[in-house]
Amino acid sequence: MNIYQPYLMRIEEIIDETIDTRTLRLSFQDPKVADEFHFSAGQFGEYSVFGEGESTFCIASPPTRRGYIECSFKVCGKVTRALRRLDVGDTIGFRGPYGNRFPLDIMKGKSIVFIAGGIGLAPVRCVIWNVLDRRSEFKDVTVVYGARSVGDLVYKRELEEWSKRDDMRLVATVDPGGETPDWKGEVGFVPTVLQKAAPSPEDAYAIICGPPVMIKFTMPMLTDLGFPDDRIYTTLENRMKCGIGKCGRCNIGPVYVCKDGPVFTADQIKRLPPEF
Ligand code: FES
Repeated sequence: MNIYQPYLMRIEEIIDETIDTRTLRLSFQDPKVADEFHFSAGQFGEYSVFGEGESTFCIASPPTRRGYIECSFKVCGKVTRALRRLDVGDTIGFRGPYGNRFPLDIMKGKSIVFIAGGIGLAPVRCVIWNVLDRRSEFKDVTVVYGARSVGDLVYKRELEEWSKRDDMRLVATVDPGGETPDWKGEVGFVPTVLQKAAPSPEDAYAIICGPPVMIKFTMPMLTDLGFPDDRIYTTLENRMKCGIGKCGRCNIGPVYVCKDGPVFTADQIKRLPPEF
């Protein structure tokens, strides 16, 4: 089979997360493919609109939910504009799953702190649900999630659901000035709110994804809290095109984000060449 040949997917559901961010629930048109398809939290795919091109997004739904996958995207170019024009029942292409994964097996029995900013919650959400669907295998689960404003928060229905669960802790925040009169969460930048929430580093891993500025200021905060670099995981989405190590678009020095990543530890990121 041609490695660039996509699976055909039907759009089952469309959820508008924010004014410019949308989630698609997709099912495989071929029941045999649907049956055989497996992936792990952290992997990504190439989504195509016929005649328009492909775009890279993580798989935002967890592998524990079978029969469909979800992706979330912000409208920011030709392919995402074309994706936005599609309706329930329309067909798109999907290649994947590609890349490595978050090593949930080594996190078993440990606590996990998830930290995300903006649409960076998409890959993290996949792992959060994966962990919640296997809740008894993990210790404390903490989610710190921030966006610029209340209107920029994605997965609002799930944030609501997580805030009510007593087997996890959700700390949601918006940047100063981004709150609304009825906002009940925190107001402040993610690193500051994380410092205040002070999750214990004991027997714990951190998984973080968000805009570069958030990552830049959150990493030292995690270090201050006592998280070692090899227990901090993040995921990169670097200018990917082919997704399979052929086009050379995604490399940072000798590292191919699509093949060696997209999941890396803070330790590995610090060893990447300075252009990153
Ligand atoms: S995306 Fe083509 S080599 Fe990585």
